[in-house]
Amino acid sequence: MIDTPEGTSGTPAASYRGDPAVREEWDRRYADREQLWSGQPNGALVVEVAGLAPGRVLDVGCGEGADAVWLAGRGWEVTALEVSGLALERAARHARDAGVSVRWVHAGLAEAALPPGSFDLVSAQYPALQRTADAAAERALLAAVAPGGVLLLVHHAGMDTQQVHDGGFDPADYVWPSMVAALLDGDWEVQLDEQRPRSAPPGGAGAHHSDDVVLRARRLR
Ligand SMILES: C[S@@+](CC[C@H](N)C(=O)[O-])C[C@H]1O[C@@H](n2cnc3c(N)ncnc32)[C@H](O)[C@@H]1O
Repeated sequence: MIDTPEGTSGTPAASYRGDPAVREEWDRRYADREQLWSGQPNGALVVEVAGLAPGRVLDVGCGEGADAVWLAGRGWEVTALEVSGLALERAARHARDAGVSVRWVHAGLAEAALPPGSFDLVSAQYPALQRTADAAAERALLAAVAPGGVLLLVHHAGMDTQQVHDGGFDPADYVWPSMVAALLDGDWEVQLDEQRPRSAPPGGAGAHHSDDVVLRARRLR
């Protein structure tokens, strides 16, 4: 784990654990714009966290860090994981500006080898997790949640059934909430598995998406 992501972009990051091609692809996307996302916490996160007591939270695919900074400002002990070193640099800058502390992890979720069962909340907001035959990302999401803890997975509705884009986006390459829901056994209580209108922060590259799929499940044991 790293505490500061200084120097992780541009050069091969020695501390990075994950697929270099995925890191490079996302670094390129972030490099295209000075700021890719809105800078505001995601609406579904704000709503779903309202009733939870702050504890240890993992932000999966934290991007430029708006959720991580928001959670840290509300008393959560935040670990934020991301493949893009450039995004992590921006996120760390925002945390410094806000005067909050976040533990940054420069890794892909499946490769991060996080301590199992160690988060009271695992939040994955629109994560671009690569699908593999062994469902490694789905299992890593579930494994990170502590007994009694909550998994909150939010995605854009309809993306999983989109046509393959000329630009190369193929929904079959990614993990969608239904795939995670399918792995929830008797150790889990599904609290929410629904599509609902998105309360989107203004601005940012994802502002055109109008509906969310929200999966919220509590790990019983
Ligand atoms: C659509 S963005 C969402 C960012 C942020 N959660 C938000 O809501 O603003 C998806 C993020 O997932 C990250 N990502 C892609 N593959 C990942 C992986 N294997 N593990 C963790 N994060 C990944 C990308 O770099 C990107 O920042």
